[in-house]
Amino acid sequence: MPGESAHVVCDLTDAQAARRAVRETAPDVVVHTQALSDVDRCELEPELAYGMNVRTVEHLCHALRARVTPVIALSTDYVFDGTKASPYDEADEPHPVSVYGRSKLDGERVALRHPHTYVIRPSTLFGCGRMNFCDAIVERAQQGQAIHAYTDQRTSPTYTEDLADGIGRLISVLAQRRSPPTSPIYHMTNAGGCSRVEFASRVVEWLGRPAALVTPIRMAEQRRPAPRPANSVLTSRYLDGLIGKGLRPWDEALHAYLRARHWIN
Ligand SMILES: NC(=O)c1ccc[n+]([C@@H]2O[C@H](COP(=O)([O-])OP(=O)(O)OC[C@H]3O[C@@H](n4cnc5c(N)ncnc54)[C@H](OP(=O)(O)O)[C@@H]3O)[C@@H](O)[C@H]2O)c1
Repeated sequence: MPGESAHVVCDLTDAQAARRAVRETAPDVVVHTQALSDVDRCELEPELAYGMNVRTVEHLCHALRARVTPVIALSTDYVFDGTKASPYDEADEPHPVSVYGRSKLDGERVALRHPHTYVIRPSTLFGCGRMNFCDAIVERAQQGQAIHAYTDQRTSPTYTEDLADGIGRLISVLAQRRSPPTSPIYHMTNAGGCSRVEFASRVVEWLGRPAALVTPIRMAEQRRPAPRPANSVLTSRYLDGLIGKGLRPWDEALHAYLRARHWIN
């Protein structure tokens, strides 16, 4: 029944559990956020990555196959290889460089076989809940510890509150439309982009900590298992037209998050 709520716990690696959860909740809409987003772990454990980023999507979509339930499936900026000099939009061809990126792209393709799927690609997430890269910068800055940040990786940092608001608006719009929108894929990030070092420097500045805490490094200096795209700043051809207005600039969102955590006034 619309408006009713139910809470079920479901392991999406289990196809039967996925079917049971769909039956018990009869959702009006599904926002699929589950993934293994630890990029290095995916590189080291590709079987696990495919299980968590592709097979779970298969199970969910199979469980929904007889329904017209819209699925909003979260994907990632890491479907791109990062060689483009300007922001990527939805018309750019994905070409992932990591197991994580490839598994998420396969997950997108599986999700899009369900006729009512919309793929949302956010970029580097920060927000309340789990420890994230922004929290790690704050923690180190507050302890006066050096913060190593990449000069050669640019993304569109995305506040989870804003992403949730954007997804909410998308759902409202989809519910009111008679015809399907032009694109099944949307880039949804806070506007603009920055390097990791610019992001860290902005946090340190707003916390009133010494700028010298930020130590610029290049990605190659940290030998991490998975390669990352050098540029995964995203922009959208379609989002403004569909939901009215895209998400605010990343630095405004960052300021709002630092205030929400009472780290700044
Ligand atoms: N993190 C980023 O910077 C980033 C950037 C771009 C796109 N994304 C995408 O955004 C989405 C969310 O990423 P995230 O980093 O926020 O992920 P996350 O913090 O790891 O959250 C993943 C969620 O999936 C749930 N989950 C894990 N295994 C499950 C299973 N077998 N069955 C059911 N649920 C399971 C987890 O539940 P528990 O809480 O119970 O563990 C958790 O709530 C993903 O699609 C990711 O690819 C993330």
